[in-house]
Amino acid sequence: MCGIVGAIAKRDIAEILLEGLKRLEYRGYDSAGLAIISPEGQLQRVRRVGKVKELQDAIDDNPLSGYTGIAHTRWATHGEPTELNAHPHVSDFIVVVHNGIIENFEPLREMLIAKGYQFRSETDTEVIAHLLHDTITKEQCSLFTAVQLVIRQLKGAYGTVVMDTRNPDVLVAARSGSPLVIGLGVGENFIASDQLALLPVTRRFIFLEEGDIAEVTRRNIKIVDKNYQLVEREQIESDIKYDAGDKAGFRHYMQKEIYEQPIAIKNTLENRIKHGLVDLSELGGQAENIFSKIEHIQIVACGTAYNAGFISRYWFESLAGIPCDVEIASEFRYRKRAKRKNSLFITLSQSGETADTLAALRLAKELGYLSTMAICNVATSTLVREADLVLLTKAGTEVGVASTKAFTTQLTVLMLLVAKLGRAHNMSEQTEKAITHALQALPNRIEQVLTFDSQIEKLAARFIDKQHALFLGRGDEYPIAMEAALKLKEISYIHAEAYAAGELKHGPLALIDKEMPVIVMAPTNDLQEKLKSNIEEVRARGGQLYIFAQEDSGFVSDDSMTIISLPHVEEITAAIYFTVPTQLLAYHVALIKGTDVDQPRNLAKSVTVE
Ligand code: AGP
Ligand code: GLU
Repeated sequence: MCGIVGAIAKRDIAEILLEGLKRLEYRGYDSAGLAIISPEGQLQRVRRVGKVKELQDAIDDNPLSGYTGIAHTRWATHGEPTELNAHPHVSDFIVVVHNGIIENFEPLREMLIAKGYQFRSETDTEVIAHLLHDTITKEQCSLFTAVQLVIRQLKGAYGTVVMDTRNPDVLVAARSGSPLVIGLGVGENFIASDQLALLPVTRRFIFLEEGDIAEVTRRNIKIVDKNYQLVEREQIESDIKYDAGDKAGFRHYMQKEIYEQPIAIKNTLENRIKHGLVDLSELGGQAENIFSKIEHIQIVACGTAYNAGFISRYWFESLAGIPCDVEIASEFRYRKRAKRKNSLFITLSQSGETADTLAALRLAKELGYLSTMAICNVATSTLVREADLVLLTKAGTEVGVASTKAFTTQLTVLMLLVAKLGRAHNMSEQTEKAITHALQALPNRIEQVLTFDSQIEKLAARFIDKQHALFLGRGDEYPIAMEAALKLKEISYIHAEAYAAGELKHGPLALIDKEMPVIVMAPTNDLQEKLKSNIEEVRARGGQLYIFAQEDSGFVSDDSMTIISLPHVEEITAAIYFTVPTQLLAYHVALIKGTDVDQPRNLAKSVTVE
């Protein structure tokens, strides 16, 4: 995925493009570039490897004037992050930026080379530029028509914005798998991958739909749909807040977002618990009817969202009595599946633009699931627009690539849903009230555990020279161990993996020696005695143990075992609560290691490619 910004105006647009790129940097930051047509009709292209700041510095040194242009931050899929591979890509008078993957670019590249085109990059994107040039030259048609002709030849999931330097009054955008939004100004219009990029210039948007191709001039928008038929799309006044504007005094967005979890959970619970009972009337009248029929739940997601789903499986089965399966989206979408009767298909996603998750949702709709639901943090995302039922997390904008508050608010929504569905499947009102009570206490519980930050910071120093780490948990703490391992991996680059504690003796115990830190999630529950045996198995082999436990757990620190005793928490929400110290641990280890906490290498915030 990457960030695309386009502008067509009657004023210089370089700063608008650059500000837009800065707001999209979460989508990828291997390189950045822009191209602006000068008032004299000349192409001015500047590209830099690295973050948008590099590009900003270059433009500051050599300011550009011009009213029509396109810009791009890249997350490389084909070709290393070099200046030559940076977008925009050019073919004579054609200029292209592209998000996603052209799966059939090799045969197209060969065909174009045979026609005499010379490729200057290793990217798949460049085939779009030469194909457009070839088509316009051959057909003597408009750019809008040429894009419609070229799109038919491309396979894959992508979004692209193109311009012709001979005609600075037009931009053309095509959405086919990656999001694109048109920003409507006064005598000027804009295009971007995400509305956040355009908030400084407009709050009026048209969200292109799958297959849409749009011709954008300063005063007019013309759109054809996937069948190349002219279509009108709704104009939306957006009230989204770009509250990631600053770190509010924190060192990193991730740190800020860890500390925002109490308020994010409070906001997510707002108006959803009334007199101790769950109120999800926002789902609409048809939901009750669907809920009464549910015999199975299929959850599909990626990364941290998958871990959230994995945790909720324990809850759906133990608290609501509903069979539940959880699967990684990139696996679900490609395997031959057995059909389930009366199954609710739930997707989890912070961004709502993850390609694999979106594809799984579309597949589920074809496969005839009872209904589809999106639990998502972005109200205007594709996933939200395409799911039958929607429950929003109210975490606010999450900027840090490593997900934190989105994860705990997903778990909060899932717990509400467990209670709601449970009541439709013999759960007692007493259990429902125990759930809502625990949820309403959770923000304060998390506020308390955040006060252990400095203790965890000291602990982090003991991981600095470690190459590996092992996280253990049982029951719904096992997926918390998975999430903790993912956090450490993705921001400190230390290899970490999670294991169900009872599984250790079936092989992974061989990894244990005094160099291997073993972090155990040990809430007070009915599995704790079993867990203590697993801890002894590690201790007997000289492993270095770090135990996150509650004050009343009975664990005592010694040479081989460091106990982090946390304040009491309700058993029902312990999994959400125990996430927070592991987020802090990963954060502090990454700080000491000096990695880029908010934008770790090789990653991006929203993975809109396969
Ligand atoms: C989590 O810290 C990662 N950034 C990544 O695993 C992420 O959870 C995954 O890409 C799914 O993203 P989504 O929630 O936006 O769909
Ligand atoms: N596949 C294109 C490239 O590698 C676009 C990647 C992106 O979405 O940034 O340049």
